Amino acid sequence: MNRQIRVVTIVGSLRRDSFTRRVVDVLKELAPAALSFELAPIGSLPAYNEDDDTDAPPTAWQTFRRQVSSGDAVLFATPEYNRSMPGVLKNAIDVGSRPYGASAWIGKPAAVISVSPGAIGGFGANHHLRQCLTFLDMPVMQQPEAYIAGVGSLIDEQGRITSPGTAEFLKRYIDAFEQWIRRLQSQRSQS
Ligand code: FNR
Repeated sequence: MNRQIRVVTIVGSLRRDSFTRRVVDVLKELAPAALSFELAPIGSLPAYNEDDDTDAPPTAWQTFRRQVSSGDAVLFATPEYNRSMPGVLKNAIDVGSRPYGASAWIGKPAAVISVSPGAIGGFGANHHLRQCLTFLDMPVMQQPEAYIAGVGSLIDEQGRITSPGTAEFLKRYIDAFEQWIRRLQSQRSQS
């Protein structure tokens, strides 16, 4: 039987009515039963400062690092701020990447989805984020890419997808992520 896969979810918006978080909630509903999701909160992580990364770093950093390390995979969902990812998400990436040589991200299978009410679906945020993940040595699912544009007309206030085509796409995306994780896990167990 296939083992359960624990996906740590990082959402780059802190907004109460975030479209990005609504999309993540839909992905969770559509996901194969083998995937379980655990949101890693990033809003209260103190801004990264190397001076504080001592033997006793801030508790919130330690909790976050442990949570990421204990997951099997990471799903990044981000809005776009000024054609990049929000600062709060970049801060979380930096916190997880240290101390040097003990990155929590390394080797974790990952997927990126960007969400925007605008027309280009957060392409800039998506690819700035991918640039960081490449450096962090995370195998990031390449296809299907996910740029959810015009999200305001795809999902209602109750978080229901109003576009069957989008629901179909999100299902395909999350199924592909399971396959991606399993492929990497089986490569690792053979090596
Ligand atoms: C934005 N927004 C935005 N949208 C976009 O498509 N490209 C962009 O570069 C930006 N830049 C930007 C900067 C800042 C500071 C804010 C606050 C907003 C609009 C953004 O997509 C919109 O607020 C979304 O609703 C944010 O996502 P959540 O919070 O709904 O998940």
